[in-house]
Amino acid sequence: MRPQKIIRTMVKDASPGLERFRAEVMHGLRKPQKELPSKYFYDDRGSYLFELICTLDEYYIPRTETAIMADCIEEITELIGPGAFLLEYGSGSCQKVRLLLDNLDNPTAYTPIDISGQQLLQVSQELSADYPQLEVLPVCTDYTGNFELPVPGGYCARTVVYFPGSTISNFDPVPAIQFLEHVAGVCGEGGGLLIGVDLKKDPAILHRAYNDSKGVTAAFNLNLLERINRELGADFELDAFEHYAFYNPGESRIEMHLVSLREQEVHLGETTIPFHMGESIWTESSYKFSLDDFEQMAARAGFRVKQVWTDPQNWFSVHYLENSLLER
Ligand code: AVJ
Repeated sequence: MRPQKIIRTMVKDASPGLERFRAEVMHGLRKPQKELPSKYFYDDRGSYLFELICTLDEYYIPRTETAIMADCIEEITELIGPGAFLLEYGSGSCQKVRLLLDNLDNPTAYTPIDISGQQLLQVSQELSADYPQLEVLPVCTDYTGNFELPVPGGYCARTVVYFPGSTISNFDPVPAIQFLEHVAGVCGEGGGLLIGVDLKKDPAILHRAYNDSKGVTAAFNLNLLERINRELGADFELDAFEHYAFYNPGESRIEMHLVSLREQEVHLGETTIPFHMGESIWTESSYKFSLDDFEQMAARAGFRVKQVWTDPQNWFSVHYLENSLLER
């Protein structure tokens, strides 16, 4: 037994700073169709609200994915094999990975990667205590940018990236392929990607999932403006904007917007941002796939589908992909 490990610091802390946040907000709000990057939803309150969304009946993703994972965990651990180095992109509360850690054959190391530093440190400490044999090497970063990965001390038979929850849905098609290419590079030869992918379905079901009856998704969306007020000193009036989410079938995506309920001006530093009544800020896209759509996208990034699992209603899918770059 190794001595009790105590994680006090992030292996890497490269979360985007205030200046980066300000620059991206400014850039987005100056576009003809105003937009804000969805990665900024996840401050402490946003992460809390997202966890709450994940408990809602209408938001079918977590329970459906969890059921698929529980059903196929033996096949998954068989495919991953012993001594794996596991990396999770957007690890959040790190609850989902426990099923893998509980069932995998002697995983060597686990690197949770998240933009929310406080939560990351907290959950890394808990995981480290619960899995004393596991090297826990957290990285706080915006994983859509460049960052360095830690190198585990122990021998790793295979590198496997875990990307659950259909976070891939947040990427537009071209960046999605670029991101998957980056992941293929991280996995290396023989490495794998275990990824949750949300599927196309009755738009009414999708609509309910992003317009929940308790208004948690609305609060999650509006929290972005609250965060900009607090961290960047803007003066968004939260009552003057409304959560608006709909399925766009032509683009196969849910779009979340914040719609200005009146003509108004918002101030951000020296800049005045005018809003017409009914004008929106586009805050999130959540793409929905067919199994073929996703397989083709993964193939363009250098991944071959090893296995796919779905729930009985075909609402959600879990894919195990293998790096096939050497075959190209
Ligand atoms: C974390 C991107 C998968 O798109 O379903 C949930 C985020 N936004 N409700 C999604 C989200 C509004 C979620 N993803």
